[in-house]
Amino acid sequence: MENKFKRHLITAALPYANGSVHVGHLAGVYIPSDIYARFLRLEGKDVLFVCGSDEHGVPITFKAKDLGCTPQEIVDKYHAIIKDSFNRFGISFDIYSRTSSKIHEEVASDFFLKLYKDGKFIEKESEQYYDPAANVFLADRYIVGTCPKCGAEGAYGDQCEKCGSTLSPDELINPHSRLSGEKPVKKMTKHWYLPLDQYEGWLKEWILDGHKEWKTNVYGQCKSWIDGGLKPRAVTRDLDWGVPVPVKGAEGKVLYVWFDAPIGYISNTKELLPNDWEKWWKSEDTHLVHFIGKDNIVFHCIVFPSMLKAYGDGFILPENVPANEFLNLEGDKISTSRNWAIWLEEYLRDFPGQQDVLRYVLCANAPETKDNDFTWKDFQGRNNSELVAIYGNFVNRAMVLTHKYFGGKVPAIPENALNDCDKAMIAEIPVIAKALTDDLNNYKFRDAVKEAMNLARLGNKYLTDTEPWKLFKTDPERVAVILNLSLQLCANLAIAFEPFCPFSSKKLQAMLGLAAANTEVCPTSKVDGKISWDNLGRTDLIEAGSLLNPAELLFSKIEDDAVNAQVQRLAEIKKANMEKAAAEAAKLVEPQKEECTIDDFDKMDIRTATVLEAVAVPKTSKLLKLTIDTGIDKRVIVSGIAEYYKPEEMVGKQICILANLKPRVIKGIESKGMILMAKDASGKMRFVTPQETLANGATIG
Ligand code: 2FM
Ligand code: ZN
Repeated sequence: MENKFKRHLITAALPYANGSVHVGHLAGVYIPSDIYARFLRLEGKDVLFVCGSDEHGVPITFKAKDLGCTPQEIVDKYHAIIKDSFNRFGISFDIYSRTSSKIHEEVASDFFLKLYKDGKFIEKESEQYYDPAANVFLADRYIVGTCPKCGAEGAYGDQCEKCGSTLSPDELINPHSRLSGEKPVKKMTKHWYLPLDQYEGWLKEWILDGHKEWKTNVYGQCKSWIDGGLKPRAVTRDLDWGVPVPVKGAEGKVLYVWFDAPIGYISNTKELLPNDWEKWWKSEDTHLVHFIGKDNIVFHCIVFPSMLKAYGDGFILPENVPANEFLNLEGDKISTSRNWAIWLEEYLRDFPGQQDVLRYVLCANAPETKDNDFTWKDFQGRNNSELVAIYGNFVNRAMVLTHKYFGGKVPAIPENALNDCDKAMIAEIPVIAKALTDDLNNYKFRDAVKEAMNLARLGNKYLTDTEPWKLFKTDPERVAVILNLSLQLCANLAIAFEPFCPFSSKKLQAMLGLAAANTEVCPTSKVDGKISWDNLGRTDLIEAGSLLNPAELLFSKIEDDAVNAQVQRLAEIKKANMEKAAAEAAKLVEPQKEECTIDDFDKMDIRTATVLEAVAVPKTSKLLKLTIDTGIDKRVIVSGIAEYYKPEEMVGKQICILANLKPRVIKGIESKGMILMAKDASGKMRFVTPQETLANGATIG
């Protein structure tokens, strides 16, 4: 499929420069894209791997406001941190630039202007929220209030972070501006919209008919967006941080961050290759692949392609968009605000020189088809029982035995000396290499890294089967064969593992005398010497008579203490988060009601009862009809409980009811009583139940 392409353009989602990068980012986007880029380079392909910081958008302006500095200062700080982390993890970008650069502003601005002049936008005035005190229009994120769904304070105009509901500012209770605290008012403002509805037919054909091979999660999201009907999307915002809208009458407006960010892929290419960038973006010979997380699918599969289509002028579209799902951490969603993450700088501090371990674990456990969990136990296990015990152990045995028996000189294989066991091992290498190559070409990096490890397994099995340490005294020629072949397999491992674990691969190449030690880990586009993908599967990579360098361990065991310290750190974060949540929940407690007498209370007949049947009340979303056993009778209560419980969750539950509430007819059903409920920490209503099952009809008082 890929043979018709002369070059490969790989992009990795531009991370926002308002915080550091964590393991979720690495696993979702940067490890897979780097593996793919390294693999193609080893194949000798012409590769360009582009990324950079996404430095616009509202959250950056918030962070600046909260810290009392400028947005530029924020992005300068985080751009440097992120770039350094990627570099130290060996993510081999050809360019890592930024969207606050001058060239990006020019490219994004020109892009907008061409679409504007070609009449590709709809210009529309609409009412938007405005902060009269701060004198600015408010993006949805600038408006906060009480969540109408869960009652949490501080919900944003686009989303409640507490319960995850998607909101609009109109839904917020008591909305106020994050800038001045004032109640926002509505005011007319003009914006430019990309009419995505006009691209629907084309997108259907291009993706739904033409790219059925895309990953199920990606294809499925595209299908549901397209089938759901696309609407025009505003590509400008009223904001003072971003690329200014380059037309008259657009003062105080900038390009929407999701309009300018993907253009960053183009401007970064242009920055690197000012005279040559077009061949990467406008030639049918280029194979373009976007690596992203699942939250970016709509922008990379629908919005950005529609922008490129609208622009015309030969811009190519992605051949694939292998988006990953999300990585969780120890069973919980990674969250920046809750500090529930493993930050790359922290990892580098606590596990210096062990970048390959994290790279390996994140690939072996990547969230390729579903969300996945990172645990420190799994990290330790994969290091100790795979990298150390399989890959490292095999290489070490081959190296140490060659030093011991042959003074580090690669022994020659005497003529006609191969036996069936040798031949079977030799035959297996290209089989594994083929599976590995197919997996990499199909973006199946988890399967691919397993195949690389299978090569090392093959080596260990070969040594175990042939037992050279028992033979040297009696049959040194046989040992020569075994060690020569083992070293050839080591050379294969150095190639096979290079995309996944480049640091240890480089070390192994140096030990085998295939490459100089301490040279740059990021390979350039040109591959020379023995380390090329074409050589995978061969058993003549190391010349007999050549000298090995001293054996060094590729990986070392990770002790319990090291992972326990990490688990402990997370436990402390969890505890702090729970205390914070409890303090917030306490704010939900309603103030005491006005005084009442015991006689008032005695009037209320509160009893235990059990739910016998529960059905949804037709044509309502909130009501359940519950048939209950009160101990004194069987009766029906209609309750607004359906928002919180499914009917089947209620059947058999013991509840508490107010039994003598005056009957009411609700939706044509007579309801006799009320179920006692209380709010939980997130504001959800839960029914009250006795601590142990009591007889139905037991009075509460
Ligand atoms: O979701 C994000 O982190 C965005 N900053 C990704 C942008 S990708 C591209 F379009 F630039
Ligand atoms: Zn909420």
